[in-house]
Amino acid sequence: MFNIDFKYMEELDEYNAEVDELLFTKLYYKYLKFFNPNDKKSLLFKEYIEKFYTLKQNLNYEEIFMEYNNAFFFRNLLKCIISINYLKNNLSIAYSNIIDLGSGVGTASIAIDELYGNFDFKFKLIDKSKKQISLAKDLNKGRANFTFLNKDESIEKILANENNSLILASYYFCEQNDFNLENIRFSSNSLLVIDYEVTINVILEQIPDCEVVRIKFAIKLPNKISLILQQDELKINALYIKR
Ligand SMILES: C[S@@+](CC[C@H](N)C(=O)[O-])C[C@H]1O[C@@H](n2cnc3c(N)ncnc32)[C@H](O)[C@@H]1O
Repeated sequence: MFNIDFKYMEELDEYNAEVDELLFTKLYYKYLKFFNPNDKKSLLFKEYIEKFYTLKQNLNYEEIFMEYNNAFFFRNLLKCIISINYLKNNLSIAYSNIIDLGSGVGTASIAIDELYGNFDFKFKLIDKSKKQISLAKDLNKGRANFTFLNKDESIEKILANENNSLILASYYFCEQNDFNLENIRFSSNSLLVIDYEVTINVILEQIPDCEVVRIKFAIKLPNKISLILQQDELKINALYIKR
């Protein structure tokens, strides 16, 4: 069945903005000591990516990991919180294993760990950048259920080697030259992708007969968050492929 749930935030009466706002603000103050969103180089980097970024561009995170995180960690964290909270009733919690592919500092895992605090999830954060993994370890020191792997990994290998896991991919696919998701049909793994709209469209073309929930939100941010992120609106594109 091909089931696309395509909604804009204004239509979401079940959406609980207050929970997201409280959680995001709490995490913002918790993690602010790790980042400097106003760093000049990071602001320039952000402007560059927003204007000129093309898919499949290879960024060297050993060189720009700090600028990347200063510019995008909090915004991506909010996108993860909102989409995961929205999916909460859909997201199968039968998993105990969660794999965060291209984890960076663990943005998507942190959102799940916070939103599902009572569940016994084990997170594996995988990133090919040593610097990202090193910062991920520092940032998540208090999270005993997180393990870290510095490895260049592909979605194909994860699908072939893992079972009954939830695979998280927040802005992982946009950086891959090529990927093949056909096998997700025969896999017991679910996949949650948070990425650009164009990436989500490429993924959908590869999996025409899977059951999916698609998120395409355009949100006017509450004042407090808009001041933190220095923007009034937020676009969120995500896809959940449930097994
Ligand atoms: C755009 S960042 C996203 C970080 C984080 N998930 C987020 O949402 O902010 C992409 C991350 O994926 C990692 N990455 C890209 N390709 C990878 C691969 N083949 N294997 C492991 N990590 C990869 C990069 O090193 C980088 O940290």
